[in-house]
Amino acid sequence: MADRLQLCVIPGDGIGREVIPMAVDVLQAVLPDVALTYADAGWDTFERTGAALPEDTLAAARECGAVLFGAVASPSHPVAGYRSPVVALRRELDVFANLRPSRGWPVHGAHPEMDLLIVRENTECLYGGRERIEGDVAIAERIITRRGSERVARVAYPLASHMARPPCDRYARRARVPRLTIVHKANILRVSDGLWRDSCLTVAREFPQVETDEGLVDSVAYYLVRQPERYQVLLTPNLYGDILSDVAAALAGGLGMAPSVSLGAHHAIAEPVHGAAPDIAGKGIANPLGAILSVALLARHMWSRTDVANSIEEAVERTLSRGVFTPDLAAPGQPTVGTRELGQRVLAELGA
Ligand code: NAI
Ligand code: MG
Repeated sequence: MADRLQLCVIPGDGIGREVIPMAVDVLQAVLPDVALTYADAGWDTFERTGAALPEDTLAAARECGAVLFGAVASPSHPVAGYRSPVVALRRELDVFANLRPSRGWPVHGAHPEMDLLIVRENTECLYGGRERIEGDVAIAERIITRRGSERVARVAYPLASHMARPPCDRYARRARVPRLTIVHKANILRVSDGLWRDSCLTVAREFPQVETDEGLVDSVAYYLVRQPERYQVLLTPNLYGDILSDVAAALAGGLGMAPSVSLGAHHAIAEPVHGAAPDIAGKGIANPLGAILSVALLARHMWSRTDVANSIEEAVERTLSRGVFTPDLAAPGQPTVGTRELGQRVLAELGA
């Protein structure tokens, strides 16, 4: 029993409740022995209980180690007592490295040559909640530490070192080695991004088998849109990674396709990148593939089940190649299916 894989499932709000059941079905098809514990978080939970991330949810997440998180709705205006449960959960579990892969899936608008991994620091930068107002001046503190920067670099470099260099990488200086780009704005933020850059470069020296280059965040944003195949691994502080990974998601088939996993020393949170999507919630048309691919990331990075991860990703690829699309993936005029049917077609590709 102790050896059984455990997963805490938090569907959350809005389309989180529609896509997570499909991701759970896929997981159970490939790893039937995983023990599931369901828990609540989000806006509905807050309205019902007064806590967006109840203590028993946190306890279940800690106990299971692995978490599958849907999405939560957060008000854009301050609400007394409410703090984003996703941010709080990431902090409580100390999942400091957020992995966001984007590849050009066979869907309308995707960039076929793209195959990018963004590794985003997940606990520091401007997201520490240290904001204050002094009269008409608002101040946000940006915290960058050597420890925080080095530990995420120590996740990114081993991942990069196991990657295959794309066959025709026109941007490389060295042939046939994987490439990692440290993203910063150290020309302006000399102290904070200076420390980030130095810390990442310290780790880079331990990985001579990876080509390291650097990019200023604005120029990386530009080239990402112009030539998305230019980058292989981007290593970023929290805020830049948040923004660049949405750009990458847009280029790779849209938010509905985008998976992520956040890793810590003992815990992992798999979560689709998208939010609760109130504009389509309840309609049964949300794309479940971001959630399904997040389960694949969990299998690969938390449970060391590359075989399981590959089989899920291949099933998604085959499903899309057959032209099975939710509305967000289809070109104008193409037929579409709903959340459940897309999930069931992936299951069928898995032989389930
Ligand atoms: P969103 O990701 O929920 O939606 C942005 C747009 O993408 C919408 O038009 C939506 O319909 C579409 N979209 C997103 N996921 C989709 C999917 N799986 N299939 C098809 N279309 C999809 O972001 P938005 O609108 O900025 O935020 C809505 C709510 O979600 C807010 O309350 C926000 O705070 C919350 N949010 C939560 C996140 C989380 O829990 N991790 C992340 C981002 C936003
Ligand atoms: Mg974001």
